[in-house]
Amino acid sequence: MKLIPFLTFLSLVTLAQAQTKPVAVPPPAAVVFESQVTSPSGSQAPGDQYIFFGANAKPGDKWGEDPAMNLVKLTDFNVSIVSAPLGNCQLMPPEANSPAGVKVIAPGGAPVVATGILGCNRSGDDKKYADLATFRITNPAVTSFSIWVLDSTVKLRANVNEGLAIRVNNCAPVAPCATVRTDFGCEFSKFTITGASVSDVFTVAVLSSDGNGNNRTIAGLTFSVIPDPTMVGKKFPIIEQQGWNDLNKNGKKDVYEDPSQPVEKRVEDLLKQMTLEEKLGQLNQLVSGDRKNDMALFPLMRRGEVSSYIWGRGVPADRNQFQRIAVQESRLGIPILFGMDIIHGASTLFPISLGLSCSFNPELFERAQTVAARETRAEGVEWVFAPMCDLARDPRWGRVAETCGEDPYLSSLCNAAQVRGFQGTNPAASDRVAACLKHYVGYSAVTGGRDYNDSEITQWTLRNVHLPSFYAGVKAGALTIMSSFNAIGGIPAVANHQTLTEILRDEWKFQGFVVSDWLAVEQLVNWGYAKNKADAAALAINAGNDMDMKSEAYVPNLAKEVKEGRVSQATVDEAVRRVLRVKFQVGLFERPYVDESAYKGAQKKPEDIALARECVTKSTVLLKNAGILPLSKELKKIALIGPVGDDHREILGCWTGRTSWSKPTLASALKEALPTDATLTVVKGCAINTVPTTKTLQDGRIVPDESVPPTDADCKIDDAVAAAKDADVVIMAVGETKGFTGENASRAFLTLTGNQQALFDAVAATGKPVVTIVFSGRPLALPEVWEKSAAVFYAWQPGGEAGSGLADLLVGNVAPSARLSMSVPRHVGQVPIYYNYYNTGRPGSGQYQDMKDMDAKFWFGYGLTYTTFAYSPVKIIPSANGKPAEAAVTITNTGKREGDEVPQLYIRQLVCHEGARPKQELRGFKRVKLQPGEKADVSFPLTGDVLGYIDRKGNPRADAGDYEIWIAPSAHAGTPAAFNFAPGDLK
Ligand code: NOJ
Repeated sequence: MKLIPFLTFLSLVTLAQAQTKPVAVPPPAAVVFESQVTSPSGSQAPGDQYIFFGANAKPGDKWGEDPAMNLVKLTDFNVSIVSAPLGNCQLMPPEANSPAGVKVIAPGGAPVVATGILGCNRSGDDKKYADLATFRITNPAVTSFSIWVLDSTVKLRANVNEGLAIRVNNCAPVAPCATVRTDFGCEFSKFTITGASVSDVFTVAVLSSDGNGNNRTIAGLTFSVIPDPTMVGKKFPIIEQQGWNDLNKNGKKDVYEDPSQPVEKRVEDLLKQMTLEEKLGQLNQLVSGDRKNDMALFPLMRRGEVSSYIWGRGVPADRNQFQRIAVQESRLGIPILFGMDIIHGASTLFPISLGLSCSFNPELFERAQTVAARETRAEGVEWVFAPMCDLARDPRWGRVAETCGEDPYLSSLCNAAQVRGFQGTNPAASDRVAACLKHYVGYSAVTGGRDYNDSEITQWTLRNVHLPSFYAGVKAGALTIMSSFNAIGGIPAVANHQTLTEILRDEWKFQGFVVSDWLAVEQLVNWGYAKNKADAAALAINAGNDMDMKSEAYVPNLAKEVKEGRVSQATVDEAVRRVLRVKFQVGLFERPYVDESAYKGAQKKPEDIALARECVTKSTVLLKNAGILPLSKELKKIALIGPVGDDHREILGCWTGRTSWSKPTLASALKEALPTDATLTVVKGCAINTVPTTKTLQDGRIVPDESVPPTDADCKIDDAVAAAKDADVVIMAVGETKGFTGENASRAFLTLTGNQQALFDAVAATGKPVVTIVFSGRPLALPEVWEKSAAVFYAWQPGGEAGSGLADLLVGNVAPSARLSMSVPRHVGQVPIYYNYYNTGRPGSGQYQDMKDMDAKFWFGYGLTYTTFAYSPVKIIPSANGKPAEAAVTITNTGKREGDEVPQLYIRQLVCHEGARPKQELRGFKRVKLQPGEKADVSFPLTGDVLGYIDRKGNPRADAGDYEIWIAPSAHAGTPAAFNFAPGDLK
């Protein structure tokens, strides 16, 4: 080897340095991690101007259905992608229809210009940072800017990104080269970059751990907008006049623009100014992601072809941008109606409806939806797709979570209360929204509990089981209804003339409009009911389905159908009338824009959080208590075991509104609630579900590989057992993953998911007293849990205040008072099971050969509290002096604590020629609060309304004759009194 003399070496080094040293290397850009929020509007800086456009979604992409995924901000700086190692990143070109990008005036008056968007996705579960995309800013004038990174996976099932980073010039994703977001549970992270130059490259990296190996972790890159000086001064027509809006920009106050005119006159005036195309536009509902990007929707909006928009973004400023196009740039300026699935809360998350219905407290529902209405309207959404009026008889069906349980009477009261909560007395008020009763009708009776299936329902059952809670919603004034996905007797609901027109309009006189469910119009073709989209459109509108959600079947096809006579002009006009009527009723023509500055102040007020907490305590059902609850202060060592114990998401439920993260958890709330000298040990024990190993099929689909056992990296049952052994009492927080509940989430087994049963068995085997809290969107059949636990709470999915509410119950600050709104089966083989079954010709016969007990484990109406009650026998007080007969009992608090009892009135008509009636039907309930030893007399009138049914022609009817009457603490409890309803009492 030849040695280089030392001096020569030194000089070479010096020479190399001299040759390569750039004289003026600009310092690398600085990145400041500014904030993370669950909604961008939550931390929007006052000067920020931005607008969202979408989308990178393709039809069929699961994540494409999450409108939040399509958030895109615009920028007037140029972005070029250097690399996108994970693929699937693309920079969307400017909207072709808009020269030089879409020009929009931002709410504050500053103009913005759209140039492009970037959307990426990333899959895997490797807990490593991976680069999503590397990009440069190629406009030398831009040296500072902000990046919002959207972690859209927060909303998706079980997916978790644990960190996001901006890497500058290939630094590792750690400070100071980049700022790393370590907390998770927030959708948006804002990074501000200063001192950038064209030579800097920026990389967005994500630390992925989606918890279940799914191929779904997605992040989008969004840029905030820099005002574009070239747009300053661009004029839009001014429509705002003194107390009215010149929507058609003709300089005069038309009848439809005049708020002092009656709604019907306004509707007719507008209708007569509309072309057929504009009318069909009013029957068209679109969704973010329906086009390559939302800018592609603007031309449609300008033509008046977008009546309603499903708004998933939650940003009032953006919503106003869309509205501005419809109002200021379309001929008649008819505002868009923004709709959204706000089911059990928006920013404040309440328990799922199935849980809240267990409160047997419709007024609580009304209060909760009043909060949801205010939070929702403040973001510019004036229409919610709730309440769900379907009846829950089959727990295999994932959507029972969204219902108010199995009973038509309770469900009717809860749904009417929700309508009142959403709409108030004036749905045009700035804190109210239009309600939508769904899914009309028979959706919950799908065969085998399999979502989207057919339902075989007789007229008798339709009238007396499935329709009453819709009727109650209509009577409460609901402005809209959504038709359902199922078919009855081969006729899909969206094309069912009997239900949509004969019952809803002719019998019930419903004045609002019916919207289809998602793509249900075009799916008439899949059903084999329609030949093509045009046929589907004609069938649906002729049946009485006014608005088409997302199929885009009406606008392109119905003009021809009208011309060729398959659809009458009168049918179209009537559908348009119904839609316009609702738009007037919610006040859109007077206030098409939402006050952006009011958004923050309308969200999650302290009193809302307190209400959500109260709802948790009032919807959690105590199913068993062998004396361990409330927890004694003497219990010093408490172990909280199970995957839901310190969980932020599973507790939220299947529709999470604007919230994807809950604080507190049960663990943190319990720590607060326990005496200071008590210790709480928190052990997860296992994951909420196991992670299937996946395989890729030839067509590229990724599916679970059944040949490989699923994995659970969190499964540490030994740790849980050790903690249990060391504790005085164990609280187990177990259940089913929320991904197994809601839409398209049917189950064949009603079990704990993943390794939780093994975890429970091992902990129970320690012999320590176990208080089990079950978190679930449906009743589960958990024989070991019922038997081996010292106490069981059924908490459902309790929402954002799950932790604090449950802690209140555990330590006894509040006593439980809820009752099951859905029966809990012993075994999945019994379902569908519900208390209001028929006596049959052979009562008690027909048992399963391989299962002794035909009864549910816990029937509808069942629930305990921290005291006990005794009921006297039911007494019938005959009618006299024009006063109806009454059933009465005396209830005594026989325990040692104050408590609430919910006496329930059940009836049975013994002989009915119209059709046999069920063995029991709930027809009333009350709530009494009693001190120890205190008594209360409770009575219910026995009128025709209470005893009656709906005959086969749809008329309410009550028959004179013999009845049995119970006043009892649950279904199938207590002894009935005989009652003869005399012909003279029929009213
Ligand atoms: C489909 C669901 O069935 C319905 O409940 C929901 O309101 C719509 N999608 C809109 O998101």
